Amino acid sequence: MFDPEKFTNDAIEKLKSDIDGKAVIACSGGVDSTVATVLVSRAIGDQLLAVHVDTGYMRKDESKIVSELLTEMGVNFRVVNASQKFFDGLKGVTEPEHKRRVIGEAFIRVFEKEAEEFGSRYLVQGTIAPDWIESGGELRDTIKSHHNVGALPEEMNLTLIEPLRDIYKDEVRKLGRYLGISIAEKQPFPGPGLAVRIIGEPTPERAEIVREACWIVEEELEAAAAAGKMELPWQYFAVLTPVQTVGVQGDIRAYGYTICVRAVQSIDGMTAAYSKVPHEVLERISRRITNTMPDKVNRIVYDITDKPPGTIEWE
Ligand code: XMP
Repeated sequence: MFDPEKFTNDAIEKLKSDIDGKAVIACSGGVDSTVATVLVSRAIGDQLLAVHVDTGYMRKDESKIVSELLTEMGVNFRVVNASQKFFDGLKGVTEPEHKRRVIGEAFIRVFEKEAEEFGSRYLVQGTIAPDWIESGGELRDTIKSHHNVGALPEEMNLTLIEPLRDIYKDEVRKLGRYLGISIAEKQPFPGPGLAVRIIGEPTPERAEIVREACWIVEEELEAAAAAGKMELPWQYFAVLTPVQTVGVQGDIRAYGYTICVRAVQSIDGMTAAYSKVPHEVLERISRRITNTMPDKVNRIVYDITDKPPGTIEWE
């Protein structure tokens, strides 16, 4: 049985002995990185700088919400807007592992700069067990290169510290509740962000489309769950596919993108079952997305694949 109190005490002891001086932590604002941030902050206090990078692939209002949360938790933090760096690096990049490598590298270069300015040689990440298992750890096949921020470059000037690397999502949530973190139940969000929810080149324009669609999916499913129409899925979002199809608006031909809605039930993200979302709710999502972006999106589909054989994210 996972014991959050024991885990916290052991982790704080280990962090104190592993970190000699200052450290920076990559804090996306997701459950894993926030839990790791609070843990390290308890271990080394103001010797920690939490760095939240706005990559241009964050969800709506994410950076604002993270700033409020870190302020509330009394953590020393900085928000860095590096979206242009990420957009430039991802120009013309379509292959999922290539995307992850570009994103991982861009993150590390931002953190190296922040760490240098702060006078630290350690980078803490909220990587959890499924991240490195699926990244090909311990002789397994690489399903996708997670490592929280994406694939890490071979050459980096920082020593990596991962206090959550042996625990799973349900345990991280228990730990979050124990540490008094208000977002412990928040759904997971991948380190590489919306870039892996855009199939094909993740242009800034496509990032805007998928950001809006993810927002609508979140709002509608949360409202439906609050109204007792369904159970809130474990994870729920939109994927922008590169498929463009013919549609009609009034009596005019349209040609727009297809958005796929994804919602799954899971315990730890290692396996998942697609959520049986009521048709009425799916219909609301479909109408709202196509009405909000009529000139860009004209078709909505729902993913009914479990994991395996699919993964939760499409890339
Ligand atoms: P998949 O798509 O592999 O995802 O079934 C399992 C869970 O992990 C999340 N995910 C990531 N989390 N860095 C992360 O921190 C990543 O690179 C990454 N890729 C996927 C995914 O959202 C799901 O909850």
